[in-house]
Amino acid sequence: MWDKLNAHHESVAARRFETLFDGGRAEDFSVRVGDMLFDYSKTNIDAEGRALLIELLERADVAGRREAMFSGAPINETEGRAVLHTALRNINGEPVTVDGQDVMPGVRETLERMEAFAADVREGRFTGQGGRITDVVNIGIGGSDLGPAMATLALAPYHDGPRCHFVSNVDPADIAGVLRGCDPATTLVIVASKTFTTIETMTNARTAKAWMSETVSEPAAQFAALSTAADKTADFGIAPERVFGFEDWVGGRYSMWGPIGLSLMIAIGPRAFRQFLAGGAEMDRHFRAADWSENMPALLALVGIWHNQVCGHATRAVLPYDNRLSRLPAYLQQLEMESNGKRVSMDGAELSVQSGPIVWGEPGTNGQHAFYQLIHQGTRVVPCEFLVAARGAEDDLHHQHQLLVANCLAQSEALMKGRTLDEARAKVADKFSGDELERQASHRVFPGNRPSTTLAYPELDPATLGRIIALYEHRVFVEGAVLGINSYDQWGVELGKELATGLQPVVEGRESTDGKDGSTAGLVNFLRQSGM
Ligand code: F6P
Repeated sequence: MWDKLNAHHESVAARRFETLFDGGRAEDFSVRVGDMLFDYSKTNIDAEGRALLIELLERADVAGRREAMFSGAPINETEGRAVLHTALRNINGEPVTVDGQDVMPGVRETLERMEAFAADVREGRFTGQGGRITDVVNIGIGGSDLGPAMATLALAPYHDGPRCHFVSNVDPADIAGVLRGCDPATTLVIVASKTFTTIETMTNARTAKAWMSETVSEPAAQFAALSTAADKTADFGIAPERVFGFEDWVGGRYSMWGPIGLSLMIAIGPRAFRQFLAGGAEMDRHFRAADWSENMPALLALVGIWHNQVCGHATRAVLPYDNRLSRLPAYLQQLEMESNGKRVSMDGAELSVQSGPIVWGEPGTNGQHAFYQLIHQGTRVVPCEFLVAARGAEDDLHHQHQLLVANCLAQSEALMKGRTLDEARAKVADKFSGDELERQASHRVFPGNRPSTTLAYPELDPATLGRIIALYEHRVFVEGAVLGINSYDQWGVELGKELATGLQPVVEGRESTDGKDGSTAGLVNFLRQSGM
């Protein structure tokens, strides 16, 4: 199948995709879910290319795998686990069974416990030693940080609860900076860790406990835990009524829909959190039911596969023209790169095509004044994924929002159309002539023919954010299923963790650098001599 796709690519690679627009293309190469629109018409995918890409899905039995996921089969084969983050948002849906047991009653019960606790914190029934909670500090890393931190920022206009802060890095600068602005007597600390063993999180949690115990007589009473490891949360001293558990069929980077979303729920309230879940569930229903040619997550995935595995573009830029989505690229880096950055397929054989792409990005318009130069005129093609809302939350500044939208649309147009040498000459013909005109004009040429997609929606409300995140989750699923890899394990993070554990006594000077490679030993020695 890859051969067929490569042959098709070869036959169309030289054409300008702008010429494909025939009056119906924008409609034909876009898809809607509710009031959200995904436009992939500014790419070199034509009807034949799309049909071949859909054939790829069919040959990989993505539909069968999709049903296996939704029905609780252990598709995370290397860890023998089901993959059921979708159950966390299936609040009004059908039963979901794992090993013959319906998991939905447990999901609903935990959600209701979270809601009761969030309401108590927000309404002042749960207090600190100094009274009503003013600040919530979520301590977690990776999936126990990026999801709730991204979403809490994204939904800032919906905040009516205490201030929420996120500490993730073991760098003391992170926790010190956050705690400096909090009063221990009115702070709730949430330790978010699926395993409750992650060294960064446990180190920060102990630091926060020590900070609180300087002024608060019962610090553990102002701690809550989000984890699958009830024994370990008990060892840390957190009472069971403030422990919100989940099962191992929720992967860390897919976990913000359940207890890991507690800080978000406290910030925006249980009602808005349910709207977020409902948006995710709407995307799930669409993903399960829509034909591939109308299926938004599948099409987003196929565009990704076309650009990465077929055209050979190694990276993709995620460019939200929505400042509150400024953490979305970081969130997607974990979601996509930890899920699909794998070199072997499920059976252990090396992949015959590239694994998932390098994901990066920043919000527009800031990026325009930084790295867009390379996107427009560099030698590499970077497929761009724009996100834009029709309205912002600042009604009184709507004219600024319109300027933002104009910039977003202008970028995708510029990437497609570019500027020819003749057009560039015309731009500077009044200033230069002869050889100098040629030289100056060449710098002003934009090759164009650079692909982009746009995801557009009325406004960034909780339900829309839920749809967006579920959309990307399913995109990752489809891309992983086509590659035949396990998108739900992350063995690639282990080696560095093991070596860090071994290096700690060396760094502390309790063990020598004997046996270390010359570079590592040299760096340890330099840092020790420099005051470490
Ligand atoms: O090291 C990677 C990872 O395991 C991620 O997959 C996960 O989201 C993160 O660490 C945090 O893990 P935990 O929630 O168990 O602390």
